[in-house]
Amino acid sequence: MKNRQWYKEMAFYQIWPRSFMDGNGDGIGDLYGIYEKLGYIKSIGVDGIWFSPLYVSPNADYGYDIADYMRISPEYGDLEIFKKVLDGAHDLGLRVIMDLVINHTSDEHEWFKAGVSDKSSRYHDYYFFRKGKPGGKLPNNWDSLFEGKPWEYRADLDEYYLHIFAKKQPDLNMDNPLVREEVKKIMRFWLDLGIDGFREDVITFISKVPGLPDSRFEPPGMRGMKYYVNGPRMHEFLGEFKREVLDNYDCMTVGEAPMMKPDIALSYIDEGGAKDLDLMFNFQHMEADCLLTDYIPRPFSLRKLKRAFSRWQKRINGRGWNTLYIENHDHPRIISRYGSEKFRKESGKMLAVSFLFQQGTPFIYQGQEIGMTNISLNTIDDYKDVVARNEYDKKKRWPEEKKMALIRRASRDSARTPMQWSAGKNAGFTDGEPWFTVNPNYEEINAEKENTDAGSILNFYRKALRLRKETPVILWGGYKEHYHHSRIFYTYEREHEGVRLLVICSFSDTERKFRSPKGFDLGKGDLILSNYDQNPIQNNSFTARPFETRVYLFGR
Ligand code: GLC
Ligand code: CA
Repeated sequence: MKNRQWYKEMAFYQIWPRSFMDGNGDGIGDLYGIYEKLGYIKSIGVDGIWFSPLYVSPNADYGYDIADYMRISPEYGDLEIFKKVLDGAHDLGLRVIMDLVINHTSDEHEWFKAGVSDKSSRYHDYYFFRKGKPGGKLPNNWDSLFEGKPWEYRADLDEYYLHIFAKKQPDLNMDNPLVREEVKKIMRFWLDLGIDGFREDVITFISKVPGLPDSRFEPPGMRGMKYYVNGPRMHEFLGEFKREVLDNYDCMTVGEAPMMKPDIALSYIDEGGAKDLDLMFNFQHMEADCLLTDYIPRPFSLRKLKRAFSRWQKRINGRGWNTLYIENHDHPRIISRYGSEKFRKESGKMLAVSFLFQQGTPFIYQGQEIGMTNISLNTIDDYKDVVARNEYDKKKRWPEEKKMALIRRASRDSARTPMQWSAGKNAGFTDGEPWFTVNPNYEEINAEKENTDAGSILNFYRKALRLRKETPVILWGGYKEHYHHSRIFYTYEREHEGVRLLVICSFSDTERKFRSPKGFDLGKGDLILSNYDQNPIQNNSFTARPFETRVYLFGR
C-alpha cells in the first residue's frame, strides 16, 4: 500500500552498540555516545542506521539473547535517550531500523521463566519442551550451531528445551498463535515509536517441521537444518506479520538468511510474488575463504567470491532487490580476510568498490569505513564470543597454538573491538576501562586521522557513496561480469539507458597487466574513482598496481 521503494536508494550503517561509543564513561558503548556521533554517521553519506540489539539482555550472545523486547538495556540507556537518538537521526534524514530477534529469547526472559516454573502455564508452549527418548536419550539427534547438542535438560520439569543457538537462547515455538501475537505486539511497539523497519535475525529458522524429526543424511554439525531452515510455515508466518502489522506502516524489512540460495530467496523477496520480506542477507560471498563457517578455513578463492556475487546479481536483479555487504558483527574484518593488512589502504578501497558498485542496498559495518583490521589476542580467555569459546573447547586434541591460530583468524570478536575514534586514550572510545580490548593499531587507524586525510579509506567511502547518489547507472543499472575465470581481477559492467560503468578490482598484491574487455575504450572513459594516481593506458591496457581499483563511466 505504501511506497516501499525508498530502501533501494539507501545505504545503511550498522551499529553494534556495545563497541561504538561510550557516552557515560563506564567502558560500554551506549546511546549517549551514539547521539554524539550522529553527525559523523551522516558525514559518511549513508541514509540509515541498523542497530544491533539494544534491548535488555544478559549478553550470553551480546544482545541476541533478549530478556525484554520493549525495554532498552540499562547499559545502553533508556527509552528517552533512544527517542532522542531516533529524532536526531530523522532530523538528519537518516532512517532507523532495529534488530528483531524472534527465533529465540534469552532463558532469562519472563516467558521462559514462567514456562519452566509451571508446565500448565501458557508460556510452557511458547518454547519447544520435550521429553527425552527412552534410555536417557535426547529428544532428537540435531546439532546446535553454537553449543554442542541443541537440547538442554531441566531437572525441575524432567524435560529438555530446544536451542539452535547457545544454551541461553531457547527457540520460540512460532506454531503457537500466542507467540505470533507477542511478535506483532513487539513490532507495533517499535513502529509506533517511529522506527522505519527491522533487520530480522535468522528469520528463516522460525518455522520448524512438526514433530522435530531425527535428521538423516546431514553432515555432523548441520544435523536438523533441513527441518528448521525455510520450514513449512515460513510464508504463512511472514505473511501474517506483513498483513497485520508491517503493511500499516511505511517501513522496510531485511531478513537474515544463512544457507540461502537465490531461487529460494526469490520465494521471499520476488516483487511479483508475496514479497514477505523486502530484502535479504545471504552468506555465500562470505564463504570465499571458508566452508559454511569461518571456523572451517580455506585459502581465499577470488573465483568463489565472484561466483557468489554474480549469481545473486544475475538471479535477483529485475525481480527483487539485493543487499550488498562485506562486513558485519558476525565475521572477522574483511581487509584481514579478502584483502591485505600490508596493503591496508589499497585493499580496503578496492574491497569497497567490489561491492558498492553492484545493484542493491549497501550495508556498511562500523569501523569498515576506516579500514579496521582483525585483532590478535593471546589466550582464549581474552576472547569474549560464545562461539569462539565453544569452537576452542571442541578441538580437544589440537595443540594450543593451532587452536589459537584458528580463533585469531575466525572469531567474530575481531569485528567487535571498540570503534577507533582517535589516537587518544582508548582510541577515544571511552574515558573509563573499555569492556573489550582496543585493537593496538588505533594510533595508526582511527576516524579522526581518516577524516582529515584526503586519501583515506573513510574519504574514499564518502566519495563512493556520493557517486552512487549522483549516478543513476550505479543504482539502477544491469550487471554483467567479465573475465569470470580470472584469479586476479574482478571486473564487472553496469548498464542503464545507454550509460555504462566498468568496475575493475585487482585482488593481487603484485603488479598485473589489465586489458580492457571488448567494447570498452578506456581512453574514452571517464575515470570517476580509483585508489592510485593515474598511470598511462596503452593499447587499452594498463599495469594494475597491488589491489588497484578503477571505476570508469562511459557515455554520460
Ligand atoms: C544472527 C546474529 C548473530 C547471532 C545469531 C543468533 O546470526 O547476527 O550475531 O549470534 O543470529 O541470534
Ligand atoms: Ca556507557
